[in-house]
Amino acid sequence: INKICLDSDESYEGVSEASFKDALVFDSSSQKNNGSVLQENGIKKHRTSLPAPMFSRNTISIWSILKKCIGLELSKITMPIAFNEPLSFLQRITEYMEHTYLINRACSLSDSIERMQAVAAFAVSAVASQWDRTGKPFNPLLGETYELTREEQGFRLVSEQVSHHPPVSAFHAESLTGDFVFHGSIYPKLKFWGKSVEAEPKGTITLELLKHSETYTWSNPYCCVHNIILGKLWIEQYGTVEIVNHSTGDKCVLNFKPCGMFGKELHKVEGYIQDKSKKKLCVIYGKWTECMWSVDPQAYETHKKSEKKDNKKQKNEELEGAENDDADDMPEVQETVSVIPGSTLLWRIDSRPPQSAVMYNFTNFAMCLNELEHGMEAVLAPTDCRFRPDIRAMENGDIDLASKEKERLEEKQRAARKERAKNDEEWSTRWFQLGTNPYTGSQDWIYSGGYFNRNYQDLPDIY
Ligand SMILES: *[C@@H]1O[C@H](CO)[C@@H](O)[C@H](O)[C@H]1NC(C)=O
Ligand SMILES: *[C@@H]1O[C@H](CO)[C@@H](O)[C@H](O)[C@H]1NC(C)=O
Repeated sequence: INKICLDSDESYEGVSEASFKDALVFDSSSQKNNGSVLQENGIKKHRTSLPAPMFSRNTISIWSILKKCIGLELSKITMPIAFNEPLSFLQRITEYMEHTYLINRACSLSDSIERMQAVAAFAVSAVASQWDRTGKPFNPLLGETYELTREEQGFRLVSEQVSHHPPVSAFHAESLTGDFVFHGSIYPKLKFWGKSVEAEPKGTITLELLKHSETYTWSNPYCCVHNIILGKLWIEQYGTVEIVNHSTGDKCVLNFKPCGMFGKELHKVEGYIQDKSKKKLCVIYGKWTECMWSVDPQAYETHKKSEKKDNKKQKNEELEGAENDDADDMPEVQETVSVIPGSTLLWRIDSRPPQSAVMYNFTNFAMCLNELEHGMEAVLAPTDCRFRPDIRAMENGDIDLASKEKERLEEKQRAARKERAKNDEEWSTRWFQLGTNPYTGSQDWIYSGGYFNRNYQDLPDIY
C-alpha cells in the first residue's frame, strides 16, 4: 500500500484536548457528478454510482499504523488515505440538504405545530446519511469552496472553508423560490477516547422560513466512531438537540439516545414540541437511521406504560451479560421502530443504492456530490472541491495518486501560510464574513452574497 503519511499540517496547533487530528471526522454532508444527462423533461439525471469501487481496508490494520506512532503526539497522526471517503468535509455538510423536501413541506404548512414537526424531521434527516459512514471526509483546504444547485429540489448552496486552525466550514443555502434560507458554520471538535473518536458538533444551524417570518436554530448531536483501533467500526450519535422558534420561544427538544450497554436504545431519537408555557403539544419519536413519527402526548404515555411492564422481565436476564474489554461492539439489537397507534409519519429514510456497500456506504445523494457534470468546469469557482485532485483520484480508485496529491496539497497550503506569515499578511475569506448570528447572539460566519455572480477574480490558487 501507499505511504502512511504522518504530516503535521492538519494537526491543531497547541492541542489540548485531543484531536486525533484528522482522525475520522464525521459530522455530516455532501453531493453529485460525472456523466449526467439531460432527460426529455429537462430534469438532469445524476449518476447513481462512483467511477470505481472502494479500496478494501481489510488489508490495512490501523493498529499496525498506530504502533509506529507510539511516542508521537496524537495530533500528529494522519490516518492512511484508505480510511477516507472521496468527499471533502464541505461536500459532507451539503448532505444536510438531502431531504430538502421537508423544508419545502414546512414552508407550505399553515399550522405552526405541523411546521415545527417538519423542521424537526428535517433536523434528524440531516444527520441520517452518517449511518454506516465510517470513512473520514478530506479536510477542506483554507479557501476551498463547494456549490450545489438542485433545481428539482429547489435550492442552491455555497460553502467555504473559512478557517484552518481550528477548521471551520461555513455554508449558506437558499430556496430558488425565495421560501427559505438555511445556513451555519460547523467546527467539529474531536476528542480521542482510546477506543473511539468523538466529534462535538460545535456551531449553530439556522433555518429561516421567510414567508412565515419564522427562524429556527439548533446544533447537531454528538457523533462517535467506535473501535478505531480494534474491532468493527460503527457510528453512534447522541445528545440533545433543541430546535428553538425564535419568534415565540417555542421549542422542540430531541434526545438522540446513547445506545446503552445492551443496545436497546441504539439509534433512537425521542422528544417533544412544547409551547412557551412548557406544555407538551406533541411527542416525536423514531430512529435517525429509519423514520420519525409524531403522536399525541397522551397516546404516547399510555403506550409507554404498557411497554414498561414487558421490559421489566427482560432486564433481569440482560444484567447477566458480560462486558467486552477488547472492542465496544455494536449491539446486535436491530428491532425497528414500533409504531404507536395514531402516529403520523414525518419522514422515512430512502434505501441506499445497490453499489453503496462497496462505495463507502454512500446514499444516492452522496454518490453525486463530486460529480463533474457536463459544462460545469467552465462555471465552477476554481476553488471548488470537485477540482481537488486527491479526492478525484480516490474516487477513480487510484489510491497512490490520491495519497501523493493529498500530500502535495497540504505542503502547498503550508508553504502559502509561511509566505503570508513572512509578509505579515492576514488570510481573508471570500464569501463569508465573521459576524454575529442575530438570533442566538453567538459568533457565526455570515454569507456576504454574490457567489453566484461568478466573479472569481483574485481567488487563491489552492490546488
Ligand atoms: C458500510 O456498512 C457496513 C455494514 O454496516 C459496514 O460493515 C462497513 O464497515 C461500512 N463501510 C464503511 C466504509 O463505512
Ligand atoms: C413560531 O413563532 C411564530 C411567530 O410568533 C408563530 O406564529 C408560530 O406559531 C411559532 N411556530 C411554532 C412551531 O411554534
